[in-house]
Amino acid sequence: MSHRSVQITRFLLALILFTGILTATSQAAKLTAEQRKELASIKRNLGKVATLIRQKKYDEAKTLTDEEEAKLDKLAADAMIPETDAVIVSTKRLIDARRTVLEKAMGGGGGTPGANKGISFESQIAPILNEKCSNCHGAQRASANLNLSTFADMRKGGRSGLLLVPGNPRASLMALKLIAPDNQRMPKNAPALEQNQIELIAKWIQEGARFDGEKETDPIGASAKAKKNPVKVEMATGDEKVSFMKDVAPWMLDFCMRCHSGNNPASGFSVVTFEDILRGGDTGEVIVPGKPDDSRLWQLVGLQDPIKMPQGQALLKRKNANDLKTWIEEGAKFDGKNAKGNLREMVPTEDELRMAELANLSPEKFADMRRDSLEPIWKRALNNEKPELLETDDFIFYGNVSTDRLKQISGWAETQADGLRKLFNEKQKPLWRGKLAVYVMKDRFGYSEFNQTIEDRRVDPATT
Ligand code: HEC
Ligand code: HEC
Repeated sequence: MSHRSVQITRFLLALILFTGILTATSQAAKLTAEQRKELASIKRNLGKVATLIRQKKYDEAKTLTDEEEAKLDKLAADAMIPETDAVIVSTKRLIDARRTVLEKAMGGGGGTPGANKGISFESQIAPILNEKCSNCHGAQRASANLNLSTFADMRKGGRSGLLLVPGNPRASLMALKLIAPDNQRMPKNAPALEQNQIELIAKWIQEGARFDGEKETDPIGASAKAKKNPVKVEMATGDEKVSFMKDVAPWMLDFCMRCHSGNNPASGFSVVTFEDILRGGDTGEVIVPGKPDDSRLWQLVGLQDPIKMPQGQALLKRKNANDLKTWIEEGAKFDGKNAKGNLREMVPTEDELRMAELANLSPEKFADMRRDSLEPIWKRALNNEKPELLETDDFIFYGNVSTDRLKQISGWAETQADGLRKLFNEKQKPLWRGKLAVYVMKDRFGYSEFNQTIEDRRVDPATT
């Protein structure tokens, strides 16, 4: 009822404003600095609404939303901007989105979504997994080798094998783990899921553990999120100066993922998929294509001196910030394959590039590389000491002791290696791709020095 009357009032107000403006001037949309500040404050408070909803403080959330809407209407009236102005529309949309979420959270959604079509993985199961499991079973940290970030990963299961037996919750490790005795129960070291959540998961498995998202390789829940809050992705033409995938995504993932990913990203802003970035955070969209100065992303990352995000770090280079600006100026376009896909899987990190390179090396090349790195590594710590070298099938020994001493040590090492071969029932020789380098130091000073310089760790005095 009240919602309706608000809408009618809003409509009338719009009509009055609109006719007023048509007769006055057709481009009154310039806000004063004061009004801009007010608008920013409204958006910030709408961000707080999202937080309040997450904290289940629904009454406070409702009051704040109403207040901010009233402020926005007043601002529009004072500034004589039509409600059709992009600034007002985008903020109104944010208010509506908050109301929808709030109504749903307060139980006004009416029945279980998709009740007659069976349980929806994307809209009912994925949110539970994202909230309760992803911290430990994600791409970055997959406890028990179990990664729940995409359905494809879920299918693979973890170290004990398959996770789901469609039609049979009692045989599905996923359901069993939710009701296991205390110390084996999931989520680990946390209260058990609520009874209705457990039942929902069991029932979903009973119904066949069906996937109803778009692609099994997308982050779970992504398609439900996209439906609830759609964004429009503009594809790059290839004429752009800045490529999102090559010039923006790599540093953004490296610098921002830590806080802006997972089930509860800082300020509601996630950089997991391209659509997430466009969707923005608690204050709404953070990118206005073509207009960096109106884009919160650029305001936070580039406009401030020193650069404000990533919080508490100053790793971002000026070039990164400039690329971000140009990318927004050029329309914030996407030049990747899948805007709903996990960017981390499409954009390799420096470490991953290096690892892929190493994985492709033959065992001989690998050993060569190891041999080549001995001297530079040694010299960094013990520049004045001249080391000896001894190679076996499995090891390279390198150190400032006599060859006889190296031989003795190699004997010990081979005994250990044989022990490992037996333990793991591993016949192959050499035991490792390439060889294992063993640095030998004559005295404890050298050992401490090596640890501090090369390994960046202190040796506990009892050890030396
Ligand atoms: C705090 C970290 C943490 C959270 C949160 C967590 N897990 Fe785990 N999970 C683990 C660890 C660690 C293991 C390894 C076994 C152990 O130590 O119990 C594990 C093992 C498992 C296994 C066994 C996998 C295998 O192949 O052996 C399943 C299944 C599982 N978790 C499911 C879940 C589900 C479902 C959730 C969310 C409801 C969840 N976990 C939440 C840490 C966690
Ligand atoms: C150490 C954690 C941390 C890192 C790293 C970090 N942020 Fe943030 N970010 C936050 C916090 C906390 C907030 C909310 C408080 C604020 O607005 O200052 C936030 C807010 C934001 C917002 C506003 C979202 C909204 O709608 O309110 C944007 C945009 C943002 N960050 C972008 C970035 C980008 C881009 C990077 C990487 C270059 C980054 N952040 C790195 C913690 C972080």
